[in-house]
Amino acid sequence: MGQFDSDLNSDAFNQNPYPLYHRMRDEAPVYWSDSWGCWMLTRYEDITRTLHDYQSFTSLGRLTASLDLPEPMWEKVAPLVRHYSQGLINVDPPDHTRMRKLVHMAFTPRAIRKMQSYVQDIVDRLIEEQLERGEMDVIWDFSYPLPVTVIAEMMGIPVADHAKFKAWSGEIVGFMATPKPSAEVLLKSQAALLAMQQYFRDIFAKRRNEPEDDLITALARAELEGDKLTEEEAVSSCVTILIGGHETTTYLIANGFYALLQNPDQFRRLRDAPELDASATEEFLRYEGPFQRNRRIATRDLQIGGVNIKKGQLIVQFLGAANRDPTHFPNPDALDISRTPNKHLAFGYGPHFCLGAPLARLEAPTAIRALLQRLKNVRLAEDGLEWNSALFRGLKSLPIQFERA
Ligand code: HEM
Repeated sequence: MGQFDSDLNSDAFNQNPYPLYHRMRDEAPVYWSDSWGCWMLTRYEDITRTLHDYQSFTSLGRLTASLDLPEPMWEKVAPLVRHYSQGLINVDPPDHTRMRKLVHMAFTPRAIRKMQSYVQDIVDRLIEEQLERGEMDVIWDFSYPLPVTVIAEMMGIPVADHAKFKAWSGEIVGFMATPKPSAEVLLKSQAALLAMQQYFRDIFAKRRNEPEDDLITALARAELEGDKLTEEEAVSSCVTILIGGHETTTYLIANGFYALLQNPDQFRRLRDAPELDASATEEFLRYEGPFQRNRRIATRDLQIGGVNIKKGQLIVQFLGAANRDPTHFPNPDALDISRTPNKHLAFGYGPHFCLGAPLARLEAPTAIRALLQRLKNVRLAEDGLEWNSALFRGLKSLPIQFERA
């Protein structure tokens, strides 16, 4: 096994990946991991190159390429493999360009501005519910319900179904959290995926007859207008948006607030200077981004940083490592809420750059501003908080105590 494999599979890496990212970047920035079955990139330049050049580094099949399965199993997981070989996030231009144009309609600056007062109202309501208690779990009482409510409203699905979304999303991405998932894990992910697909198919069927002012109606219309979008593509894009649209933002808010609690000088700075909200959000994305492991597949034999890569090999881009690359970010392990420039890669780069970024950039500062203004004497209610080992980087819980400001 390679020099970093045992560390990569340790809980210490899960709890704090940054020391290992630094070592890998210094000693083997293009590293082959036997246990994960992929190349790993930790340098900013290599990661932007591989995200930008989709002709050499494809998104197609990237999530199922490294599966190591006996022949009869492939047939059993065919629907999962199929899902990850199509739909917005898993295809390259020009198919990608066509789908992205359609889904983008929901995320134009105008569409996002329309959500502004809605987001503020939900934030105010959620925080109001906690104020009298003097304690809350920032994740489960606050930063989880906010994005799930917002995304449900945008898509036009009942927010009352959020427990279903949460369970399905966690199970669907479950297979991506482990490098070589077992057949059991794959089948569990697939069952949740099929359930979510059916859920969307039913809503599409309703919206074709009874249109509303929501994203599903817009996609249904595109589908009806001919060959713009097939039903399968529309459903698969909805799965991506629903999964991408809530847990990532949950953890952006919670990771950002936790970073402030650990850096009291930055906490005070931000509390006293609301004009820093936007740059603080960019710094939270850089410092503790919720999505750390992106993937592509080499489409031909090529080199990265002088290392030979073979056609078909999987490449994992550690976005959190790029975001702490000292050649781009001076003093990279320090939280600096006014850092400029701050061209982090937390939302990716190139043709697949996160479509939901404007929404996350609306929700996170609104949420964190409310925590800073409405609470005082905030302290952690427990020591030794743990990071989860799921696909998205976030704490298992973030219990705090406080007084009403
Ligand atoms: C902090 C929050 C978020 C982070 C860190 C994040 C991260 C990312 C990243 C890294 C990618 C690129 C993946 C790739 O290159 O293969 C991406 C794509 C995407 N994200 Fe996000 N995301 C966030 C929030 C959201 C939200 C709120 C939504 C939707 C409401 C969303 C929807 C999408 C979609 C649809 C794509 C696919 C774009 C494409 O393939 O063209 N994301 N996101």
